[in-house]
Amino acid sequence: MLVSIIFIPIGVASLYASRDVVEIIDRYETDCLPENSRSNKDQKVQYIQGPGNKTCSRTIRVPKHMKKPIYVYYQLDNFYQNHRRYVKSRSDEQLRKNSSASDVDACKPEDNGVNGLPIVPCGLIAWSLFNDTYTFSRNSQKLVVNKKGISWKSDREHKFGKDVYPKNFQNGTLRGGKLLDSSIPLSEQEDLIVWMRTAALPTFRKLYGKIEEDLQPNDVIQVILENNYNTYSFSGKKKLVLSTTSWLGGKNDFLGIAYLTVGGLCFFLAVAFTVVYLVKPRQLGDPSYLSWNRNPGGH
Ligand SMILES: *[C@@H]1O[C@H](CO)[C@@H](O)[C@H](O)[C@H]1NC(C)=O
Ligand SMILES: *[C@@H]1O[C@H](CO)[C@@H](O)[C@H](O)[C@H]1NC(C)=O
Ligand SMILES: *[C@@H]1O[C@H](CO)[C@@H](O)[C@H](O)[C@H]1NC(C)=O
Ligand SMILES: *[C@@H]1O[C@H](CO)[C@@H](O)[C@H](O)[C@H]1NC(C)=O
Repeated sequence: MLVSIIFIPIGVASLYASRDVVEIIDRYETDCLPENSRSNKDQKVQYIQGPGNKTCSRTIRVPKHMKKPIYVYYQLDNFYQNHRRYVKSRSDEQLRKNSSASDVDACKPEDNGVNGLPIVPCGLIAWSLFNDTYTFSRNSQKLVVNKKGISWKSDREHKFGKDVYPKNFQNGTLRGGKLLDSSIPLSEQEDLIVWMRTAALPTFRKLYGKIEEDLQPNDVIQVILENNYNTYSFSGKKKLVLSTTSWLGGKNDFLGIAYLTVGGLCFFLAVAFTVVYLVKPRQLGDPSYLSWNRNPGGH
């Protein structure tokens, strides 16, 4: 009974918190292809690897008041950042210190560039950095996306060096993803830092930036996005997510439901046992129920 009294209110509070979060999800990987290259995979891959104009315009309607800060995420589906070959293809030493630039043993096949010099940052994770971009406007006024402070502070301060600059990056025959500005140290390349914290599951969201303005109900937001990243060769989905947060984080009913289930089960059992006790009571510690008293002599 005590467990149910504690858990059920927590469950209700968590569900309320989760219901308060406003989340807008826009899936765009198919809609952002030109009509004539949507029908099969080869066409899609050809388009995305080709030179054409990848700009795409989307409109989003805000359903409810959204309180700042509004977090902008990209969500990828069917992208296995947890694959063993992939997750190990990085060099933490190299990311941390300029003097370890040639520590690229773990990074194959993205270890040394075409000129034989080490790639910084090396490895498949950095190579495949997400490169779609989004810009937002409302009533033709730009909504500024703040990209500072989107990564973990400890990563910026301890894991990515202030004296490490990108070198020979994305200079091979096959482009994997975004280019890095080689005049900015890794500790300030927050998109990379976010990307390098690999996701445990094949469907994941990563923070793109923050909009530090409230959005009103029925606001129409114009998104100009550049659809660069190739998820077509593995049939991955791409989604743009705008979300507010509550004290519990993003929109997720799981915690509330889990608390309610456990609390409810405990309540049910407590009631059931109470009823059983009232209907068919039994004296506590009655020695006559002991097996050797019930059937003396062991027969
Ligand atoms: C790409 O197309 C958009 C409109 O679809 C246009 O505004 C933009 O200027 C084009 N960009 C280039 C580089 O041609
Ligand atoms: C990084 O190390 C290389 C050689 O090891 C040196 O030439 C370069 O000046 C260093 N860069 C910085 C920013 O310390
Ligand atoms: C890429 O490689 C070419 C030729 O090896 C070189 O001229 C160019 O400067 C390199 N670019 C970067 C960004 O390192
Ligand atoms: C973006 O990444 C894809 C690979 O996923 C690559 O083919 C494309 O050239 C990149 N484009 C830009 C603008 O970085």
